[in-house]
Amino acid sequence: MAQRAGQLVMQLRQDGLRNVRGKSNETDLVTEADLASEALIREALHEVYPFVGFWGEESNKPPQEEFFWVVDPVDGTTNYANGVPFYAVNIALQQGELALLGVTVQLPSGHIYWAKPGEGAYVRNPLGGQQRLRVNQVDQVARALLTTGFPYHRAESPDNNSAEFNYFLTRALAVRCMGSAALDLANVASGAMAAFWEGWLNPWDVAPGALLVREAGGQVTDYAGKPWTFASRGLVASNGQPELHRELLACIEQARAGLPALWLPDAGK
Ligand code: IPD
Ligand code: CA
Ligand code: CA
Repeated sequence: MAQRAGQLVMQLRQDGLRNVRGKSNETDLVTEADLASEALIREALHEVYPFVGFWGEESNKPPQEEFFWVVDPVDGTTNYANGVPFYAVNIALQQGELALLGVTVQLPSGHIYWAKPGEGAYVRNPLGGQQRLRVNQVDQVARALLTTGFPYHRAESPDNNSAEFNYFLTRALAVRCMGSAALDLANVASGAMAAFWEGWLNPWDVAPGALLVREAGGQVTDYAGKPWTFASRGLVASNGQPELHRELLACIEQARAGLPALWLPDAGK
């Protein structure tokens, strides 16, 4: 289904995108492809599994069912809308907080990242074949390639990841901002990146990727070091090397020490 939605999304781009507009603000874009992809995934999944709930970014109705899908119909919409070839379709199957399946389809490349608890994380290559994913073994920030992203409320609050970003900029091997949290997590799972951090993410951004990272041998926590859950406000996904993860948390704490007291964006995003 994720692959079919991905094909639709790419087709709509080729046909010429219409209706690109701001959602929570002018930087938070939504396109006709986000809406069409979510509708396709919702209808197709409902046909096969009518008893499973659905939590998609664009309709955003938290489900009442024990089992439900969490769907980001296009993760990396700003890349997509501007023609940067790095975005994804994201689907997780959840039993409450427990992820039972995670799928991230990278577009336009067509790589399919997937994981099931206890079975490992894998990538299916567009030309055939599949490899098991394993995190890398970097154990200090100074040697770590890091990736991150910024929230859409970044103009409205100083709690917008700029303090954390500046802190890591001069300490890490390098910091990348590639525009898709889903693919950032896939890159940690594959061992390309040592770690990813970001605040203010939503479940649909990261539910499949958190499972990918954990099944590839990594660790996913909040900024305090507790296991990441849907309610967490910050996420740190690393290769699981204890020294590196500890250092990442300490850097984030240091960087955030100068921020004013808690500020919350409007509900929804
Ligand atoms: C966004 C991307 C981006 C991250 C933002 C997300 P969207 O998702 O994952 O990398 O920095 O926080 O909201 O809006 O493209 O689905
Ligand atoms: Ca997203
Ligand atoms: Ca999205």
